[in-house]
Amino acid sequence: MELRLSPEESQIAQLAEQVAKDVLAKHADAADHGKFPAGNIAELGATGLLGVKIPTEFGGLGGNNIAAVHAIRALARACPSTAVTVAVTNMVADMILKFGDAAQHAKFLPNLCNGTWLAGSFALSEPSAGSDAASLRTRAEKVDGGYRLNGEKLWITSGDVAGVVLVLAKTDPAAGARGISAFLLQPGMEGFSVGRHEEKLGLLGSSTVSLAFSDVFVPDANRLGPEGIGFEIAMVALDGGRCGIGAQAIGMGEAALRVIATAVEARKKGDRTLGTDQGAQFRVADVATRLDAGWLLVLRAASLRDAGKKMAKEAAMAKVFATEAGNFAAQQAVALSQGAALDRHSPAARLLRDVRVSRIYEGTSEIQRLVIARHLAASVS
Ligand code: CAA
Repeated sequence: MELRLSPEESQIAQLAEQVAKDVLAKHADAADHGKFPAGNIAELGATGLLGVKIPTEFGGLGGNNIAAVHAIRALARACPSTAVTVAVTNMVADMILKFGDAAQHAKFLPNLCNGTWLAGSFALSEPSAGSDAASLRTRAEKVDGGYRLNGEKLWITSGDVAGVVLVLAKTDPAAGARGISAFLLQPGMEGFSVGRHEEKLGLLGSSTVSLAFSDVFVPDANRLGPEGIGFEIAMVALDGGRCGIGAQAIGMGEAALRVIATAVEARKKGDRTLGTDQGAQFRVADVATRLDAGWLLVLRAASLRDAGKKMAKEAAMAKVFATEAGNFAAQQAVALSQGAALDRHSPAARLLRDVRVSRIYEGTSEIQRLVIARHLAASVS
């Protein structure tokens, strides 16, 4: 694995850092008070960062997975709500590029990448199908010229603001995972409605909603890929998405490390600062080491994906370790900020609230461990 960035990767990483500093950081507080970061999305649309891996002809940056994780990490340091919105948009754009036809590329990619649409959304989870994704119940029944969708989706990031929602639905309920297909739905389709807005613990600027489909007619032209490969599309999307969420957690963890550094500097203990106190030093060392280890796992998974290799196990390892490292960093930031962290909108408290869900969405830590263990079992059998 090459740790040095290519000039193109470095350019994208720097671009993201610049936008994060100049734009996102200024609106992070408003996002933490529940304001969807529409202004940030517009700025990001102008840079191409909404489609890091999408060819420039469609408004993306023509980059790779290494560039994408660098970008998400930089955005997350400044505004985690924006980072997850952008991560999911990138994931949806990647799947349209990989599995879509030329007409779908032309119709969806420019609007996703240039910010005309605020987001892309990925609708897999359901009230009775979270971790066991293949047990989803949303039904897509074949009718003349398309499909009729009925069902419900839950915890859908950007489901209410997205210009396109990638929906997984059963076309053949008897065929298990192989009976699932993917569809591209758009707001305004008759029978497609947004339900409850989740009142979340963190990431308050990102929108999370339920979606309902009541006899929604989806034309054949909006099916993504052939019938029956929807579960594969979802898993391929999540292999990449898990690198992105790992990167997001590392970005938040690094922001927490900055909070720790400030707290250590500010708190004097007699003639010693916390920085020279061994207890604090050990915490700082542990936080930094875990974040670096998590980041290296993210880079390994991303570079395998760039090389076209299978990386489901490595993506799961990266996600579980990086998100737990990010959570550890935020916990230490709260501990070292002490009374200042009692303000729920303080930097430490915000990071603790924001980072928690990284261990849940795009597959819980338990699911990542399951994926890792299954791959290990398969490799020794
Ligand atoms: N790549 C390609 N294909 C894959 C794959 C991968 N990584 N993983 C599995 N598949 C294929 C298998 O090869 C198999 O194909 P065949 O039937 O042809 O052999 C098929 O998919 C079924 O695989 P499994 O038997 O392993 O499937 P399973 O039902 O046991 O489930 C699971 C596996 C890993 C537990 C999966 O259900 C899972 O990932 N669950 C977690 C769901 C999740 O992450 N949800 C997140 C929601 S999205 C989100 O959070 C986004 C957001 O808004 C922020």
